[in-house]
Amino acid sequence: MVQNMKKPIYLDYNATTPVDPEVAKEMIPYIESFYGNPSSSYSIGQSNKEAVEKARAQVAGLINCQAEEIYFTSCATESNNLAIKGIAWANSSKGRHIITSAIEHPAVTEVCKHLSSQGFWITYLPVDQYGRVDPEQVKNAIRPDTILITIMHANNEVGTIQPIEEIGAIAKENKIIFHTDAAQSVGKIEVDVEKLGVDLLTIAGHKLYAPKGIGALYIRKGTQIENLMHGGGQEKNIRPGTENVIHTVGLGKACEVALRDFKQNQREMLASRDRLLDGLVSHLGNKVHVNGKLENCLPNTLSVAFENVSAHALASFISSEVLISTGSACHSGETTISSVLQAMNLDFRTAAATVRISTGKHTTKEEIDFAVEVLVNALKKLT
Ligand SMILES: Cc1ncc(COP(=O)(O)O)c(C=O)c1O
Repeated sequence: MVQNMKKPIYLDYNATTPVDPEVAKEMIPYIESFYGNPSSSYSIGQSNKEAVEKARAQVAGLINCQAEEIYFTSCATESNNLAIKGIAWANSSKGRHIITSAIEHPAVTEVCKHLSSQGFWITYLPVDQYGRVDPEQVKNAIRPDTILITIMHANNEVGTIQPIEEIGAIAKENKIIFHTDAAQSVGKIEVDVEKLGVDLLTIAGHKLYAPKGIGALYIRKGTQIENLMHGGGQEKNIRPGTENVIHTVGLGKACEVALRDFKQNQREMLASRDRLLDGLVSHLGNKVHVNGKLENCLPNTLSVAFENVSAHALASFISSEVLISTGSACHSGETTISSVLQAMNLDFRTAAATVRISTGKHTTKEEIDFAVEVLVNALKKLT
């Protein structure tokens, strides 16, 4: 019997991650002492400019691009907005057609919806039962007026990894700009912009142990893009506004740490995810239904449905001991299935019973064993 632990076990790392102590340590001098504006020519300004440039190189190092191709933003949502609207507006004289998928995060879908109200055409590609886009369908969706393909690298709810390399090759062959939302993949699987063949790539700080409030957008050199904001010319005028030095330093350090510890983190996330599934299956057998294909999934993500239980009831029942999220929303007693699970054609019962459990680099075996015990006991009571 594993001892009950005081704080609930956090198994929702796809929602957000804690700030890594190494990252926090790097940020402290910029909170406490180094307050200069990077645009100021005197020394306390210039040293902060150097700190921002160091961070830019650290981010670039993780995704294999040049430092000058990294632009800092406030979050992944902003990066996606800048990428999609910026490319759409800069290229609207060439065409107004955009290809995306049915399983994107709202930070992409809502941008596309907005653009469709502005006279752009959006094609939402379907996915298979595992949440995967077929590259052949991308090819078939291309029209003479297609200006952008935006398809996420890995899905936040089920963890499915998209065939980005293949789509990248198709985009290149057809000379179409290609953006991927890599908010969930950076730090968990290899993200190399050259191998992936992308022109723009979104990064979210708080998904990789940097603080909330910082993101980045990779923009391949030579890509024509319009800025959303207008101001003092920072970030080569693509994203003006005085730099968030403190958080930028944090994101830089987080990327350095992610690169340094990549293999070990990946191994450990995978081991804890597999231990979790093995534990659940050993107690519950075929009452456990895995969504997606684990061979093609983020190493830390388990989207799983338990027979005959409401995911909401389960997640809230265990929330004083284990924190997980659900694949559906529940408002005034009505359950709405997430658009991702709908696109995967999951039947209502399975979707309403789906929970997302996502492990992190600090997740321990003891935490996993405890979580299995809590889940199994809860299911006994609820079913
Ligand atoms: C794939 C993906 N894209 C974008 C976002 C948006 O991130 P943020 O809310 O930090 O802007 C998230 C957050 O969950 C995400 O998972």
